[in-house]
Amino acid sequence: MASSINFRSVRPVLDSAAPHVFIETYGCQMNVNDSEVVLSILQGAGFTLCSQPEDATLVLINTCAIRDNAEQRILGRLDFYRLLKKKNPRLIVGVLGCMAERLKDSLLEHPAVDLVAGPDAYRDLPRLIGILGSSGSKQINTLLSHEETYADISPVRMDPGGVSAFISIMRGCNNVCSYCVVPYTRGAERSRDPESILREVGEVFDAGYREVTLLGQNVDSYRYGDTGFAQLLARVAQVSPQLRVRFSTSHPKDMKDEVLLTMASYPNICRHIHLPVQSGSNAILEKMGRRHTREWYLERVARIREVMPDCAITTDVIAGFCSETEDDFEDTLDLMRTVRFDAAFMFQYSERPGTKAARHFPDDVPPQAKTERLEKIIALQSEMSLESNRRDLGRCFEVLIEGHSKKSDADLMGRTSQNKACVFPAAGHAIGEYVTVRVLSCTAATLLCEIVD
Ligand code: SAH
Ligand code: SF4
Ligand code: F3S
Repeated sequence: MASSINFRSVRPVLDSAAPHVFIETYGCQMNVNDSEVVLSILQGAGFTLCSQPEDATLVLINTCAIRDNAEQRILGRLDFYRLLKKKNPRLIVGVLGCMAERLKDSLLEHPAVDLVAGPDAYRDLPRLIGILGSSGSKQINTLLSHEETYADISPVRMDPGGVSAFISIMRGCNNVCSYCVVPYTRGAERSRDPESILREVGEVFDAGYREVTLLGQNVDSYRYGDTGFAQLLARVAQVSPQLRVRFSTSHPKDMKDEVLLTMASYPNICRHIHLPVQSGSNAILEKMGRRHTREWYLERVARIREVMPDCAITTDVIAGFCSETEDDFEDTLDLMRTVRFDAAFMFQYSERPGTKAARHFPDDVPPQAKTERLEKIIALQSEMSLESNRRDLGRCFEVLIEGHSKKSDADLMGRTSQNKACVFPAAGHAIGEYVTVRVLSCTAATLLCEIVD
């Protein structure tokens, strides 16, 4: 059931002759995939995608609420759209995604916003847009669902002719990490029917894609009937040995040996696990509600390396969570040195209204200390990323060519199974091909290579 409200009269009827939609996406890979689902739904309702907001009848902003700075950036964008609407009063602007779910009706008070739809309400978009177009009244649907997985919708990729596709295998999250807004913005965890996942994987392979990334907030808790994540992974890997399979995100408390053994038995499942640790201090992990200890995490890392010595491990780290002392912080640096992550995403703690941390723990690490700690974490990780890349000097890797190098069209970019970016002269090769490269030199972010066959 949708909840449409009559907010106030806004603008004239939607130009139905040639409705064009422009979609802008913020946040994680799941949001990227959700935008593709939204495009599929809107194409079904007669919309055509356009590449500039100035050409659009409808602009949809798919938003992220994970940290305050993510939301501030989107509010800045809404100011841009307020001005654009002065030039084009018929333009309709909708806010989708996690910020829509978090802020609900209050977003409709923004002069730029005509439409608000949460992550489980995208099937309702054509109806909401229809009412908005004919009545001029602002519309909202932020109902969360226990069932919606958009399983029957084939996402329309924004990069036709692309190489790598995101495929959501589940939605929502049942964990209660105390700092995290996601369970509130995306609702309860639900897994998607494996048959629909395999159908989609087959479709993208037939369309020329050579890599899929299976997405979920906690892929290790995927379960649909008898199919757990390890079984799903094996079935996806069997679609073709020419298809690379990646996945994200693994939760240390749930990551099972069975998944590692499945990875090890399929060479096309990439040797990379993103395993967010958040903190190296047991006191902080406990307060974060992560439900694993530092020792448990290190044991999981050891097991990954035992089963797949060539597997890259990357992580997420939060600096300055509530009550984090210098000693807690040192524990994080120490854990990073012990594991030697290949790469990391690193953040300052940002209090999110309504979360357990916001309700129960004071956000008491001073902003300057948060910034300094984050800087130290970033500096340490840069050293370790460089070291990790240096270990690859002289070695050969199979890479899937994804595109041109950012710096030169004469160079191509592809990734190793470990998800490291390699740049090399094209030498007559094309996007979508597999080639073997040798690493000649490196930075902390890139391996500079030559093709060897
Ligand atoms: N489901 C994934 C991560 C989702 S959010 C997991 O559990 O690993 C991605 C990352 O954002 C998190 O791993 C965490 O490091 C960071 N993050 C989440 N909430 C945050 C907050 N309130 N402040 C700072 N970083 C946060
Ligand atoms: Fe957030 Fe934790 Fe769920 Fe990840 S597992 S989305 S950090 S609540
Ligand atoms: Fe993703 Fe941001 Fe939502 S990280 S799940 S878009 S809060």
